[in-house]
Amino acid sequence: MLREIIDILADPQDGSSLRLNSSLSHVVSMTGHRYDVDASGYADLTLRPDSSEGDDPAMIASREAFLSGGHFAPFVEAVTGAVHDSLDDAGVPDDASPLICEIGAGTGYYLAHSLDSVAGSRGLGIDVSSAAASHLARCHPRAAAIMADACARLPLKDDSVDVMTVVFAPRNVAEFARVLKPGGEVVVLTAEPGHLSELRAPLGIRDVESDKVEQLIAQSEGHLSVVGEPRSVRFPMKLDQEAIAAQIGMSPSAQHIDPDDLAERIELLPESLVVTAKAAITRLGVAR
Ligand SMILES: C[S@@+](CC[C@H](N)C(=O)[O-])C[C@H]1O[C@@H](n2cnc3c(N)ncnc32)[C@H](O)[C@@H]1O
Repeated sequence: MLREIIDILADPQDGSSLRLNSSLSHVVSMTGHRYDVDASGYADLTLRPDSSEGDDPAMIASREAFLSGGHFAPFVEAVTGAVHDSLDDAGVPDDASPLICEIGAGTGYYLAHSLDSVAGSRGLGIDVSSAAASHLARCHPRAAAIMADACARLPLKDDSVDVMTVVFAPRNVAEFARVLKPGGEVVVLTAEPGHLSELRAPLGIRDVESDKVEQLIAQSEGHLSVVGEPRSVRFPMKLDQEAIAAQIGMSPSAQHIDPDDLAERIELLPESLVVTAKAAITRLGVAR
């Protein structure tokens, strides 16, 4: 799929256009910079020699296991619904093959769902983790993947993306505003206080900061402005111990707790538990 979105990619060093070489093993910029395409199909557009950031393979495997259980289905429906609303409000015609770009896209669960629901759309998943990028390259027939740092200059041309989605992932609002087309929007899902609250005391994991949406809106000032009201999405999930282990394994909490302690604490939980999922969905449009 890289071929289908190569026209919107830009050299992360100088913004010049990129092309794929004939054997599809590299992308090369107009200024001669060369970047590898991994055998799994993603282009590595990171600039650091050691790209060990982002989720490691164990976290990605836990994420895949948890999401495949369908526990976050209301979140994926809410994100996809907001993507549709954004495209409708921008007046994007049905046959326009809009470009949907997800930042910190992980396994591509949300991106694949958006692509399924918007006929003819093209997708691009960006993640700094190589394990995630490998998954992304295979997450949907209309998705391409690149490995890149969302906190640096995005390897995308100005005014090239119809909708961006950011689900529990880093945000770079100045860059989002640069790469969005006029009328384009970013759909952001942020965890809210109370998310997974039933697990916090028994497993010793931290609660979510109370003002994440306010911080997002404040950060966006001068670049993006809120469209409508942020909306809370809240629902109960019945999780068994395996699903709870996968949920913790895919989150940063996994790095703060000794794995043996965590396994012991999970074993002390009931066989299944009703756990609250709670996040806010915010739409941000380019402030022009
Ligand atoms: C909490 S996970 C969310 C993944 C996915 N959005 C989901 O909800 O299934 C955060 C993701 O952001 C990625 N990430 C972290 N820092 C990043 C950065 N600076 N640039 C791009 N991706 C990053 C991680 O590798 C990980 O896949």
